[in-house]
Parts: sequence; structure tokens; C-alpha cells
Amino acid sequence: MAWKTLDDVALAGKVVLTRVDINVPMEAGRVTDTTRIAKIVPTVEDIIARGGQVVLLAHFDRPKGRVVPGMSLLQVVPALEQALGRKVVFAADCVGEVAATAIAAAGPGDVVLLENTRFHPGEEANAPAFAAEMAALGDVFVNDAFSAAHRAHASTTGLAHLLPAAAGRLMEAELQALEAALGSPERPVVAVVGGAKVSTKLALLGNLVGRVDHLVIGGGMANTFLAAQGVEVGTSLAERDMAAMALDILARAKTAACAIHLPLDIVVARELKAGAEARTLPVGNCPADAMILDAGPATVAVLETVLAACKTLIWNGPLGAFEIAPFDAATTAVARAAAVLTAAGKLVSVAGGGDTVSALNQAGAAADFTFISTAGGAFLEWMEGKDLPGVTALMG
Ligand code: 3PG
Ligand code: MG
Repeated sequence: MAWKTLDDVALAGKVVLTRVDINVPMEAGRVTDTTRIAKIVPTVEDIIARGGQVVLLAHFDRPKGRVVPGMSLLQVVPALEQALGRKVVFAADCVGEVAATAIAAAGPGDVVLLENTRFHPGEEANAPAFAAEMAALGDVFVNDAFSAAHRAHASTTGLAHLLPAAAGRLMEAELQALEAALGSPERPVVAVVGGAKVSTKLALLGNLVGRVDHLVIGGGMANTFLAAQGVEVGTSLAERDMAAMALDILARAKTAACAIHLPLDIVVARELKAGAEARTLPVGNCPADAMILDAGPATVAVLETVLAACKTLIWNGPLGAFEIAPFDAATTAVARAAAVLTAAGKLVSVAGGGDTVSALNQAGAAADFTFISTAGGAFLEWMEGKDLPGVTALMG
């Protein structure tokens, strides 16, 4: 790999500016999902074990270059201390005297957390002067924020050019998993892409048809493809103005010998609510006053066969309205099939993107996947084949 890891840089006695993504969901002042915090622990422990002083840099939410008290990183300190089992010294600014004083005051083994980098306009602008102010606080830059690597900000790219730079353990694991899934995967490769809208995933579908052997399209996106082919989709969520784009993707898939899998049978209801009366019908038989909310068992059976024939799976987006039973059935069944194959050593399975992770957790399948990315937008951009600035900056 062209980037350095913690094994390649000297850390003893150094102040290590460590970019992490602890942009975690909160409700009533409490972190509701600590996954991203838990995932940075190995990097923090490794740096400390190598004699480095950990100084965490992170963003929280989107304050747009202004100090917004409700977006202070101070509120994640309790969750961070609990995950690390260490004292976290918080500095109310990520540059200047306040930050320098906190770093100097931290005891051995303490972790310093600097305030939200996005409180400064220089962060998102990747302003050289702001990056230099942060760089002045430390000796080494470690980027462990894969999920923010699609942003070319001062703390994700600027710093990498000012200090000796390396990938943290989570960044390393993410990059290795993504390489195994799409860079140089074992074939055949199947991609499962679901979610509501084709319009947000056009670039991704366009990239995938040229790279994978099977492309499963689910969720609201599938309705758009069905409607584009003249199939009745009733009152389903479907982007009718995307018909030409959808047909273009199908044509490109054909040229690239990528098999597209759309629902063969559908689960429909008159409204999307728990306990709604649901019916399973062959695709094409959707009543005009009903909506498609999931793929049916015949589709699931085909997808299980496809998974069993493949060596690599990359998954983004649910196959149906998985938040509301019974419309989670296809997503759950296919996720469990993937988990079983993975646990048996027959499949490399990588998944990412916000809803995807909740869906796989809900299915009880996440633990058996080879790798679950912590990233939302960065995972999508990577699936689109884009270079991620935060990763590129680590290449030197
Ligand atoms: C995320 O939550 O996806 C990352 O932290 C990036 O956040 P952003 O979309 O506000 O840049
Ligand atoms: Mg986001």
C-alpha cells in the first residue's frame, strides 16, 4: 500500500494529532450509537502504547464555520471516556493557546480532545493558515477518519501535507476491506444496492455495472427501474423522470455482461405502516392503488442462489422498507444468507452506508459480515469510483 500506517512512523515522545470521526447520533444529550467511538479505540491505544500523546481532532455536525454551542464536542466526552477507559482532557478550541495549554496539561495516558474543527471557517475551506495553526500543536498526523475522507478539509487533507502522516488502524481496516471488495476482489462479485432514490445513486450504479458480475437493485430504486420498463408500480415511490437514466444503466450492464437482478415478486400494501395488510404478487401485478414495499420470497430465493455462487459481496442500501415489519423480510433474509455464507468462509462480505448498517444490525447479520464500514457518504463516493481526498492526501 502506498500509505503509511502506525508501524511506519516514530511516535515515542511525539504529540500525535489524530483525526477521528466521532460525528455520532445524539438524543437529549446522550450518544445513541457509540459505534464510531468504539472503532477508534485500537488506534488510540496503539499510539499510547508506542509512547505517543494522543490529541484528537474531529468535527461534529455542520456548524458551517461558526461556534454553535449545541454542536460542541464536549457532549461526547463521557461516551469517549467510557469507551477508552481513560481521562479525556477537553480543550474549548482546536487551535491557539487554549489547545496548546490543554495538550501541555494532559498527563501520561490522558487523551486530549480538541473542540469541533468546523467551528472555524478554515476547516471546510482547507485554509493553509488554519491547517498550519493545527499543525503547530503536534509532531505527527494520524488520520483514522475514513468516514470523513470524502471531505477535502484542513483536518482531513491539509494536515497530511504539513506533518509526517499515517493511516490509523480503522482507516487501514476500511481501506483493506474496500480493496478486497471492489479493488481486487475474488470473483464473481455481487453488489446489492437498495434505498429510496436512483437519482442519488446513479454514479454508483454506473460504476458498478462495469465492475461487478451481479447487480441486485432493491428498495424504491427498483421501482424506478420497473416503471422505466413499463411495469405497473401503482402508487410506489418511483422516480419517473429517471426512466431514461435507468434504461441507460440496463443497457450498459448488458454490454458489460453484468447481470441485473430486479424483483420477480413484490410485497404490496395500500399504505406504509406497521400492520398494514400486505400481499405478495408477481411483479407486474401491482394494483393501481397499492405500493411496492418489499421484494417477495421468489426474489429472495434467486438472490440466495446468486450469493451462493459468488465469492464477494458489497452491500449498500436495504431491499425494502425495512424499518416497518413485515417489509423488512427480504432485506433480513438476504442479509442472513450472506452472514451464513461469510461465517462458513465462502463469501467476503462488505457493507456500508447509514441505513445499511441499521438494516444488517436489525437482521442480526452484521456480526458475521467480513467488514462493516463506519462510513456513509465516503462509502458511497468510494463505490462511485471517486478518489477520496483524505485517502489521497495520505499517499504523500
Ligand atoms: C458522516 O457523518 O457521514 C461524516 O462524519 C461526514 O459528515 P458530513 O457529511 O457532515 O461531512
Ligand atoms: Mg453525513
